[in-house]
Amino acid sequence: MVIKLPGGRKLLYLLLVLGLAIIAFGVINSSLGHDFSRIRPNPGQGEQQFLAEGQQIFRYDTFGSEDFWGRQLRLHEAIKGAQLGGVGPGLSPRAALSLGLKVDAEALPASLVRQLKKGQVNLEDPATTVTLLKLDAVVGVKGFFDGRGQLSSIGIQCALCHSTVDNSLAPGIGRRLDGWANRDLNVGEIIALAPNLEPFSRLLGVDQETVRRVVRAWGPGKFDPQLVLDGKAFRPDGKTAAVLIPPAFGLAGINLHTWTGFGSIPYWNAFVAVLEMHGHGTFYDQRLSDPAQFPVAARAGLWNVRSEPDLVSSKLPALHFYQLSLESPKPPAGSYDQAAAGRGRELFNGKGDCHRCHVPPTFSEPGHNLHRPEEIGIDSFQADRSPTKGYRTAPLKGLWTHQKGGFYHDGRFRTLLEVINHYNYVFNLNLSEGEKADLVEYLKSL
Ligand code: HEC
Ligand code: HEC
Repeated sequence: MVIKLPGGRKLLYLLLVLGLAIIAFGVINSSLGHDFSRIRPNPGQGEQQFLAEGQQIFRYDTFGSEDFWGRQLRLHEAIKGAQLGGVGPGLSPRAALSLGLKVDAEALPASLVRQLKKGQVNLEDPATTVTLLKLDAVVGVKGFFDGRGQLSSIGIQCALCHSTVDNSLAPGIGRRLDGWANRDLNVGEIIALAPNLEPFSRLLGVDQETVRRVVRAWGPGKFDPQLVLDGKAFRPDGKTAAVLIPPAFGLAGINLHTWTGFGSIPYWNAFVAVLEMHGHGTFYDQRLSDPAQFPVAARAGLWNVRSEPDLVSSKLPALHFYQLSLESPKPPAGSYDQAAAGRGRELFNGKGDCHRCHVPPTFSEPGHNLHRPEEIGIDSFQADRSPTKGYRTAPLKGLWTHQKGGFYHDGRFRTLLEVINHYNYVFNLNLSEGEKADLVEYLKSL
């Protein structure tokens, strides 16, 4: 480029304008650039680190919960068994897998993987379970070991209920799938193994055998976070009051979380880490101080918990950021009929009127995404256990990953067709059998 030198004054003027332009560009760029970097599809270094931190917390942090599950309930003693200095027969890997616990194949040394493939690993021996814990290979459970290498405590992690594995090595053994609901996991049977349930029995004001009976009634894929608030163990029809474990992916852009919309993601994260996992942290919610609706929480002061040290609060930002990054996995090719799903989409947004509440792309309502029980034609039992008295419009992406255990908060509808039959009846939709089948295929495609 040829620059024609202008006269002295003109040159000064030009330099001044150029300088100002550069400064203005810098200012605009740095202020905007900061915001834009947050929504870039490829996160920068700072965001990558924040995500990695969040993943670490989600997968591996126990929030100090070993003080409860190990020191108080002595669950580790039941896992290692009398032979290794604990109590009872111990928990063999086969028994652990049948309780829905998962093994992270990537945490296993190559030699052990080879032995597993050849069937040379003793899956009947609790000592093998202890070895897996030592390798940090049991998803959602962390073993603590003393100076002599003995299992001395156990803590739990978010991944226990909200992760599973892809079974790539064997059933229950594979690569981690973060955010997937573990619908095989029998939380109640695992709790029932603990030699000492006195902390629950004291909190709920019932004997330990009653606690065992209550948690054993939950069944696979379910857990009852509200039990420690209201002490309601069974519904009026005599069935367990537990709810299904939902996925922890596909939650970005959604206002209220949990089946009954207790609050936002970080609200619930603090709630679970402190009140359910029994980590050491801070939790505050004045709504739970109501002795009529939440007699247990009000009596025990669970609506205002402070701990020193606080092992939860500092982790909430990164944990939240990581959860928001977990997208719903796409259904595998060939797992649904594309043409039928296309017709189902029309029905979803037309005759079925599903999109009135399940608004794409989150499939929940932008705004206050709650409904009164009668609006969806069901009873109010679970809604009444929440400060909201409502049911949250469930997001529908990734439904294909959690078909086990059924649908709606308590799994009352065993299949997607049963869900649609329910709506067909409640809303008088007049759907033909063919239309129902098309809607099912669409739901499977999300
Ligand atoms: C013992 C099993 C268990 C553990 C451990 C657990 N959760 Fe959950 N989680 C559940 C259940 C059950 C629900 C549904 C609760 C409800 O609706 O009342 C739930 C709900 C949620 C939701 C709401 C999802 C939605 O659809 O809106 C989020 C987010 C969540 N959990 C995150 C976490 C995090 C983060 C941790 C670790 C700090 C954690 N959970 C630990 C069982 C568990
Ligand atoms: C009035 C609002 C509303 C309408 C209309 C509606 N839903 Fe729902 N949907 C909900 C709510 C609320 C839930 C959560 C129920 C619960 O927690 O038990 C739900 C749950 C579901 C679930 C279960 C999700 C899970 O994870 O278990 C499916 C599937 C579903 N709806 C599909 C549909 C289809 C298909 C239609 C149209 C035929 C439809 N919904 C119409 C509000 C609605």
